Amino acid sequence: MSHAEDHEGTRRDFLYYATAGAGAVTAGAAIWPLVNQMNPSADVQALSSIRVDVGGLEPGTQITVKYLGKPVFIRRRTEEEIAEARAVELSDLMDTNAQNRNNMDLNAADQNRTLDEAGEWLVMIGVCTHLGCVPIGDGAGDFGGWFCPCHGSHYDTAGRIRKGPAPENLWIPVAEFVDESTIKLG
Ligand code: FES
Repeated sequence: MSHAEDHEGTRRDFLYYATAGAGAVTAGAAIWPLVNQMNPSADVQALSSIRVDVGGLEPGTQITVKYLGKPVFIRRRTEEEIAEARAVELSDLMDTNAQNRNNMDLNAADQNRTLDEAGEWLVMIGVCTHLGCVPIGDGAGDFGGWFCPCHGSHYDTAGRIRKGPAPENLWIPVAEFVDESTIKLG
């Protein structure tokens, strides 16, 4: 075998393995066309961490980004939504754990689920904790938050389960503000 053939063989092996692994790569690549607010330059190194520009989000609106194959809801809440969530007693909740991936020991008080102290920013994994449907947002359901139509789970304005079969509050992913208009997930 000549040196050139040997080299080509190696290259073919490489391409084969690269193709075999393409499933994971494709899942990550699908993020970009869906969300033009993201900043690709900062994220190319690691798909496990993405940055989302939320500078254009007005109070009372939200965006959904795809992160590690799951929808993530980023909502900028109104004063009313914040007040409503903060008026709820822990004893009224079905799940009293914050489900906050930054700190799983926290209780489900609204303050423990929002990204900022004022409670304007709520970032959640948009997957119903019952059987995994994607809940409908923007004031849906009996508690003005999110509603999962699959089997009727109602979440409040902090994404906490209040009625229906879902056993847990919507999960809060590991997230933080890295500057005043950019949220880093992961
Ligand atoms: S999957 Fe949401 S209520 Fe069943």
